[in-house]
Amino acid sequence: MPKETLTITDNRSGRQYEIAIDHGAIRATDLSQIKASPEDGGIVSYDPALVNTASCRSHVSFIDGDAGILRYRGYPIEELAERSSYLEVAYLIVKGELPTTTHFSMWQHNIKMHTMLHENVKRFIDGFRYDAHPMGILVGTVGALSTFYPDAKHVVALESRRMQTRRLIGKIPTIAAYAYRHSLGLPYVHPDNEFSYTGNYLSMLFRMTEAKYRPDPVLEHALDILFILHADHEQNCSSTAARVVGSSQADPYSVVAAAAAALSGPLHGGANEAVIRMLREIGSVDQIPGLIKQVKAGERRLMGFGHRVYKNYDPRARIIKRIAEQVFEVTGKNPLIDIAIELERIALQDDYFVSRKLYPNVDFYSGIIYEAMHLPVAMFPVLFAIGRTPGWLAQWQEMLLDKEQKIARPRQLYIGAPVRDYLPIEKRT
Ligand code: CMC
Repeated sequence: MPKETLTITDNRSGRQYEIAIDHGAIRATDLSQIKASPEDGGIVSYDPALVNTASCRSHVSFIDGDAGILRYRGYPIEELAERSSYLEVAYLIVKGELPTTTHFSMWQHNIKMHTMLHENVKRFIDGFRYDAHPMGILVGTVGALSTFYPDAKHVVALESRRMQTRRLIGKIPTIAAYAYRHSLGLPYVHPDNEFSYTGNYLSMLFRMTEAKYRPDPVLEHALDILFILHADHEQNCSSTAARVVGSSQADPYSVVAAAAAALSGPLHGGANEAVIRMLREIGSVDQIPGLIKQVKAGERRLMGFGHRVYKNYDPRARIIKRIAEQVFEVTGKNPLIDIAIELERIALQDDYFVSRKLYPNVDFYSGIIYEAMHLPVAMFPVLFAIGRTPGWLAQWQEMLLDKEQKIARPRQLYIGAPVRDYLPIEKRT
């Protein structure tokens, strides 16, 4: 059996070091023993954007980027999307196991008991401008919830963590729906616990004057699957933000607000919005070559393409492409789908994309479905945030319970000025 170690020779001193390899990783702290002189603090690893650094051990989700595989707690995403509901998957992500019938009813009950917002939270939402981006409303309002639930600061107490988890999963769709209604100047719709989690969300979004809103079952099911597909994705930018902020023992509302803020950027959850804007700008299939030319010239990115981990087709994109057809049977076809399919076809034959292993990711087709459901593009990242909330909470809790974790505090390589003499302002040139 070959030894699971790495031998490093420091050519400055000629010394050799043997470092253990565990799960394909060496511990960065093992490098600190490698010193040029006794006063030297030892070698650190330099990894901007943490491209090749594992920052935790996790049980939550598994990605094999080369094979295009995604599993939550060991279950393939395809099977969960086919056979589970979103709330069941949320239970799996947060608690680690699929629920029994009894546990699932308790879980559903506990989440539904927390869908309403304090009246003052509604007034808080009222304070945003009519054209405020709903993601900004979501980030601000979720953060503000910590002032409504001061018990949330007891992050080491299991009961408190459970309570905030239920509240967050229960209230996020309500905040998201109210952000949408606020932008239209429409009255807020109370949560209706007779509906499924997703049906209730659709009701809070779209109910007008009818006595009882009935969500279309195909759209309800499609949205439920979309939430499942977004529920977790290992150490992405927003989950990392959740872990880093949570590592200071900040309360979970601040943690989820920070994660949602990270999600809002166009390179992360904001990409679905950027895809629709790009497809609209292309306008027709004959304009695609022009866009591809700009992308290859490095003038812009093909939004919804590429991924840090997937170097193969994103399995979520494949499922979403399939649901799109079911949605269009109800809503009518979104003409952008033809442009998207042709764009994918051309890109996947082009050496620029093939050689860089750039494939459609989750955001390439999701926005086309949301748009067919008459959701404005600004709401797309908010939908991503609803789906991802159990993932953030599971990552946060796992970090808190991991005895190896401490407050996140990376090192830096200082490359600034050496010590300088201070000059009074009148002497500066
Ligand atoms: N269009 C054109 N070129 C690209 C793209 C793209 N979408 N993505 C990567 N590249 C090129 C990049 O220019 C680079 O080329 P070169 O080697 O010649 O410099 C090479 O591919 C590697 O790119 P990178 O920037 O080092 O890759 P990354 O792992 O840092 O970036 C990414 C990952 C998702 C930020 C990036 O692919 C991207 O910007 N995609 C578009 C935005 C997008 O769709 N984001 C959603 C990601 S999936 C949902 C989520 O989890 O948030």
